[in-house]
Amino acid sequence: MSEVAWQECINPACGAKVDVEDQSFACPKCGGLMDVKYEWKLIPVPKRMKEFANRWGQRNEPLNFSGVWRFRELLRFAPEKDMVTLGEGQTILQNARGLADYVDVEPHNIFLQYEGLNPSGSFKDNGMAGAFTHAKMVGAKKVACASTGNTSAAVALFASAAQMKAVVFIGSGKIAFGKLAQALDYGAKTIQIEGDFDVCMQRVQQVAGKLGLYMMNSINPFRLEGQKTIMYRVMEGLNWQVPDWIICPGGNLGNSSSFGKAFLELRKLKLIDRVPRLAVINAAGADTLYRLVEKEGMKWNDGACDPELEQRFFEQMDAEKRGAKTLASAIEINRPVNLPKCLRALAVCDGLVRTVSEEEILDAKAMVGRTGLGCEPASAASVAGLRQLRGEGIIGKNEKVVCILTGHALKDPNVTVDYHKEENLGAMEKYQRVGVKKVSFANRPVLVADDLEEIIKAVQE
Ligand code: F0G
Repeated sequence: MSEVAWQECINPACGAKVDVEDQSFACPKCGGLMDVKYEWKLIPVPKRMKEFANRWGQRNEPLNFSGVWRFRELLRFAPEKDMVTLGEGQTILQNARGLADYVDVEPHNIFLQYEGLNPSGSFKDNGMAGAFTHAKMVGAKKVACASTGNTSAAVALFASAAQMKAVVFIGSGKIAFGKLAQALDYGAKTIQIEGDFDVCMQRVQQVAGKLGLYMMNSINPFRLEGQKTIMYRVMEGLNWQVPDWIICPGGNLGNSSSFGKAFLELRKLKLIDRVPRLAVINAAGADTLYRLVEKEGMKWNDGACDPELEQRFFEQMDAEKRGAKTLASAIEINRPVNLPKCLRALAVCDGLVRTVSEEEILDAKAMVGRTGLGCEPASAASVAGLRQLRGEGIIGKNEKVVCILTGHALKDPNVTVDYHKEENLGAMEKYQRVGVKKVSFANRPVLVADDLEEIIKAVQE
């Protein structure tokens, strides 16, 4: 076993360890989730986070250019020769002053971490840099994932660059057009299953087991190592300060889990002296985490997080045939695979969970579009969540808040065009299904005849 890094069951009461090269991604003793762990004494971790910034000067060095590997001492599970990069993580922390009134936060304190700038247009590329590095290190040739769209786009892109074969499982009719276009264009074998994401997730695990495919979903702990760096870059954008709040959408709960691990480790390494609070935002139509945490009182409890409650909850969900239903297709998930890790993150970061409605998501998305960067529907849940938490008075007007914009605006052009163009959005079947009635910030295109006077009138109106 490598002395520098290994995998370990997240449940301290179990604590089973396996080699860093293992690729089963489940605890051999209890079946739980695994963490990547490090012997920090053996790694030359800088004394201060600021020192990582020195690498900015060497942008012709691919590992220093990468927004993931620039921080490689904090995810040192592979030798440098195996580190895979496509230039991921060149993302912006934007001070979104234009959004201040909408979310009722002081203009100098509202920030958007724009992960849509990644090569495949979502935060997933951070994770793929980690997971493809591990795949390369263990000699994998064929990789697989289930996806609501962005994971499949990122897997397809990284596999084509690394010359590996990729197979992606997606729910038929369940993913946004931009994402499907990417998987097809990057050459992944795309299996559309008649079912939702949860069905795809179950099937891909069965198929990967039988065919020996390397799993790229976020049960792969090396994915989450890459996603930790989103938090490092947030701090970088704040001149190495820790914000008061991080707000992110919750789907399969990989992101929130990785953020919690990032802060847990930074605190242990004394690279920060406090952790931010974490708010995870579910769509109201896909609210498993919200119900479990806020209604049922489920907690991390140092690894003893009540599997009976979880089982009862899902049995009832099945009995009531309560399926996830949201236009934010990226987070249309019933059974988040990283649930226990997310509970740990909530414990580390004194976190909480909220739900936002479809209308709140769509309006927040339109406001993010207007203030500069744009995002896909799921990402806007973070901004809608902030607005709600301000309304509740849980977040103070003067607190420094970072909302994670997880995916690019072009991922889901249909929802955007419908929002702005359709006079009677609520009457369309797709929107009726999730209960959208009225949206507030439509920017209607203006139709004019090819007549100079008419056009001038339209421009001036
Ligand atoms: N935002 C976007 C744009 C996503 O694509 C996802 C997840 C999330 C938020 C939720 O993040 O799973 O870490 O809680 N998309 C996955 C996929 C599930 O298959 O692309 P999470």
